[in-house]
Amino acid sequence: MPENNPNAPRITIVSFSLSNQTKKLIRAFKEGLASSPEAVQVEHLRLAPTERIPFPFPSIPATMLMMVKTLFRVRIPISELPLAPLRDSGLLVLAGPTWSYNPCGPVLSFLDTYGDLAMSGRPVLPIISCRGYWRLHWHYLKGEILRHGGTPLGPWVFTHPSKEPWRTMGVFLTVAGKHPRRFPLLRRHYPRYGHDRKQLQRAAEMGATLPASMADPEALKGPIVV
Ligand SMILES: Cc1cc2nc3c(=O)[nH]c(=O)nc-3n(C[C@H](O)[C@H](O)[C@H](O)COP(=O)(O)O)c2cc1C
Repeated sequence: MPENNPNAPRITIVSFSLSNQTKKLIRAFKEGLASSPEAVQVEHLRLAPTERIPFPFPSIPATMLMMVKTLFRVRIPISELPLAPLRDSGLLVLAGPTWSYNPCGPVLSFLDTYGDLAMSGRPVLPIISCRGYWRLHWHYLKGEILRHGGTPLGPWVFTHPSKEPWRTMGVFLTVAGKHPRRFPLLRRHYPRYGHDRKQLQRAAEMGATLPASMADPEALKGPIVV
């Protein structure tokens, strides 16, 4: 139950979402936190790119260019964040999508600029939204958390529930602004882009039980894939 009790543990959520999938997960996660019987103080900081990123991308070549850039971990500059919620939190939840096997550009900028302040000496729980390929992302992120003096927990990973190869085709077409359901085979095999309701429910349940687990962060170590 979020409240103003200054002694309640503080959770700071830092998130970025381009196509609303992390946004939906974090909304459900926060509803879960709010329903928890444990008192907790929650701050949510959204990473805002200084230049708007169009979504969907304007064309297939523009999408492919973005995928190549993100493979090389190109940073996307972000607006300044308030420092107090980063400095004073008891747990940092860092949420965002996988882009070309890496954390997304705004999260990379966050790590560069605020990594020491936000992570040093505290547990960091990543929440990853992806189509299905998160291990390299996690490997890199874990290294960054350790480099900045934090304790990596989780991660909690939410993959798109559709089957391959339709999932990869569906994600590519969606981010390139083409409607997968206009293609007869995909209409049959690809029900939707992104996460389903069951996964959002799970995110809420995970939020509801997180405050009780904060006393023993060791229990939060190890990936959970939903
Ligand atoms: C440029 C780009 C690259 C992506 N690369 C990957 C990837 O390497 N692995 C993966 O599983 N998903 C990849 N995805 C899919 C996203 O991780 C997925 O759609 C995620 O749910 C988007 O979250 P968001 O809506 O919060 O931005 C990529 C998406 C984009 C836009």
